[in-house]
Amino acid sequence: MITRGFRHRASEKYNAVAQLRRYDNKLVSARCTLQSTISQRMNRLTMTLPDDWHTHLRDADALATTVPAATRCFGRCIIMPNLVPPVTSVALALNYRQRILRHQPVNSDWQPLMVLYLTDNTSAAEIRAAHATGLIQAVKYYPAGATTHSAAGVTNLERLDSVFATLQELGMVLQMHGEVTDPDIDIFDREAVFIDRHLTRITERFPALKIVLEHITTHQGVDFVRHSHSKVAATITPQHLLYNRNDMLVGGIRPHLYCLPILKRNRHQEALIDAATSGSHKFFLGTDSAPHAREDKESCCGCAGCYSHHAAIELYAEAFDRAESLHQLEGFASHHGADFYGLSRNPRQIHLTRKSWQVPEKIHYRGTEIVPLAAGETLHWTLES
Ligand code: DOR
Ligand code: ZN
Repeated sequence: MITRGFRHRASEKYNAVAQLRRYDNKLVSARCTLQSTISQRMNRLTMTLPDDWHTHLRDADALATTVPAATRCFGRCIIMPNLVPPVTSVALALNYRQRILRHQPVNSDWQPLMVLYLTDNTSAAEIRAAHATGLIQAVKYYPAGATTHSAAGVTNLERLDSVFATLQELGMVLQMHGEVTDPDIDIFDREAVFIDRHLTRITERFPALKIVLEHITTHQGVDFVRHSHSKVAATITPQHLLYNRNDMLVGGIRPHLYCLPILKRNRHQEALIDAATSGSHKFFLGTDSAPHAREDKESCCGCAGCYSHHAAIELYAEAFDRAESLHQLEGFASHHGADFYGLSRNPRQIHLTRKSWQVPEKIHYRGTEIVPLAAGETLHWTLES
């Protein structure tokens, strides 16, 4: 009897679970239909003004191109400090901010958010002083030699614990270029190895430290951020959502798609699209827009970096539209980053229209030109002015 009663209850439970699964499947398929209907019917998208949590503006005459472009669809941009020499002190950061603001178009309320470049010698006092300004939002970790202008970066991550303790205490954000630089580690594995060797330990040792793993490129990056504590987040670039390494390498090398961390295989691109369009607050927009003159890219030793500020929000809209997830674009582009940094969301809105246009082949830059991301390609969303 006991066995029969148990079996009876077990089969009731099984039926109930099966029923629930059927409802769930129906719900999922109804949601999919709804989403694709929205995306097919939606011809205009209104959203909170986005922010860019990872931007390279460069300096001097480059600012005449980069600053106006940064203001076209962003309320705020995090300005990367990898100048030559790098922005390693409060004084350098505030001076750089002034040079940037001189190029801000009239009537623009755009704001540059400054960042301190971490070196082996960055002191706790400098970080406290940076925090006290209210104008410097984060410090940036570059492994020495990892990428453009990173020679002055950190040589030994293990020695930074006192810096991390200070950041944690202040609630200040640590932005990480998450790659190891050991010559024996394959360039396509550098992010995954960084996570295993360093990031796991840092997040365990500093459970309240706000960390942004910048420009993630792998499913290991996505999984790590998803499963870490709530203070660990990531930015995702438009190039890593729209392209994979085949786009860069098959049928000839396309140097304008070369950036660091380098584009990975298709499977990783899919994981990134999944993360960006998931609605998770841990993933947000960071273009890593990084201009290099054409001749510096089309060279026997070309620079890393893709310029995307000519069409930043349109490029993300393209990626989200292809994934039938336009309804998730606003959270990713305009809410999650501000919430993570503890800043208010922008009060203004922007509008995008479903209207095709062709990306220019080149853009004027410092007396020469840049080949922008998606040059010559057709995009299907247009920012209304
Ligand atoms: O591709 C990149 N370009 N990655 C970086 O981390 C730096 C950037 C640049 O400054 O050009
Ligand atoms: Zn960058």
